[in-house]
Formats: sequence, structure tokens, C-alpha cells
Amino acid sequence: MTSPALILEHVSKVHQDGPNEVTALDGVDLLVHPGELVAIMGPSGSGKSTLLNVAGTLDTPTSGRVLIDGRDASQVSAKTRAEIRRRHIGFIFQDFNLIPTLTCAENIGLPLELDGMKAREAREHALASLAELELTELADRYPSEVSGGQRQRVAIARAVVGERGLLLADEPTGALDSATSESVLELLVSRVRAGAAGILVTHEPRLAAYADRTIYLRDGRVQGGAQ
Ligand SMILES: Nc1ncnc2c1ncn2[C@@H]1O[C@H](COP(=O)(O)OP(=O)(O)OP(=O)(O)O)[C@@H](O)[C@H]1O
Ligand SMILES: [Mg+2]
Repeated sequence: MTSPALILEHVSKVHQDGPNEVTALDGVDLLVHPGELVAIMGPSGSGKSTLLNVAGTLDTPTSGRVLIDGRDASQVSAKTRAEIRRRHIGFIFQDFNLIPTLTCAENIGLPLELDGMKAREAREHALASLAELELTELADRYPSEVSGGQRQRVAIARAVVGERGLLLADEPTGALDSATSESVLELLVSRVRAGAAGILVTHEPRLAAYADRTIYLRDGRVQGGAQ
């Protein structure tokens, strides 16, 4: 079996909320392999978004380790961590808005440009990514000129552009109707079948059914132990 794309080793996260401490994650162990999609379910406040943020190095664990492609995220410089995020991790968040003043193609090429790629080359990658998702006609439209479902698919195109190995989706289908939700999920699944590792946070069992397995969080703990 391939080595895991993501390892969470006994990860805890305590948020400071003014004078109070909130334990959002409490000793979570999780492995996700390339080609595997794991769904995370659990009640509101159970730590699902915190888990994704920590897995994506947007947030640091209070204790425990996060390894991405075998590299301990806490043992590399902030610059390297930012590079890992930009090159290897795709985030698909419900409220992860496209930038309204950039076209769809420019939105998709942005992470590559931030990574030092020339605009023309970034556009080529963006167009290839749109073509793969059969959204070529949206390239030069602004986010306000496409439907909600199309915006979500453009956000996925942005998340996966440049062959990211780890895709983290936090309720990516939000307010979409069920047919559009399923087409968004199918995009995610097709990237996972092509070799990415994925985590999908969802409240909907129908969408979790797309995953290879589902873990349940409650009060920051994985129900049923290590996964
Ligand atoms: N930045 C923060 N500061 C303080 N507390 C936080 C912070 N972020 C999250 N929390 C708290 O940590 C706990 C877990 O929050 P989290 O957002 O991970 O839950 P969730 O499972 O994603 O919930 P939902 O299904 O509502 O999105 C909650 O009690 C929340 O209030
Ligand atoms: Mg959440």
C-alpha cells in the first residue's frame, strides 16, 4: 500500500475563547492514503472544521503531529509550510469565495501565479483544468456571471489546479440543489480516483456515501477510536 498522504497523530486543539478554553479536537488519529476519500460527519461544534484546518496547516495543533506526505508540518519553516499548502493542498470551502474582480480563469490561475508562475502559463493550466471539468465556456466570465453550482465547480477547479495531492472539502455543496451537489461531489471523487487523498466534511449521509469510509466526530473525538 502507498504511504499515507496525511497522518494525524493524536492531534488535540484547544481554542482560546477570551478567558475560556474550548477543546475542539481531543486526541484524533487519522490516516488518509492517496486514492482514498474519507467523509467526516458529526454534530455542529464537534470539531470537523478544526480538523480540516489543522490537517491543511491553516491552524496548528495544541499537541500531536500532522504529517503531510511524511513531512511533519511543525518541523518545517513557515515558508515551507506555505509552499506545501499552495502546491499540495486544495481547499474547497463553502464560503471560500472566488474573487469577484477576477475572471473564473484568473481565479483558478491565482494559486499558480502566487507560486511564481507567469500569468500566461497559469492561464494555460487554468484552461486545462476548466476543460477537464467541462467548464471551458466560463473561463472569461466573472463569478457574478455564472450560477452558484458553476461557481462551486470553478472553486473545485481552483482547488485541484496543479495536481494537488490532498483535497480538503468543508461542506462544499452548501446550499446547492441535490443534482448540482452530486456533480460537485463527482468532481471531487474523480480527482481522488486519479490519485489525490481527500477529506469531505458533510452533514448529508447521501454525500458521505461517495466516500470510501466515514468517521464520526463527537466532542472532538473520533467515535470508535483510531481510523
Ligand atoms: N477560532 C476559534 N476560537 C474559539 N473557539 C473556536 C474557534 N474555532 C472553533 N471554535 C470552537 O471549537 C469547537 C469546534 O468548532 P468547529 O468549527 O471545528 O466545529 P464543526 O464541527 O465544524 O461545526 P459545524 O458543523 O457547525 O461547522 C466549537 O465549540 C467552536 O465554537
Ligand atoms: Mg464546520
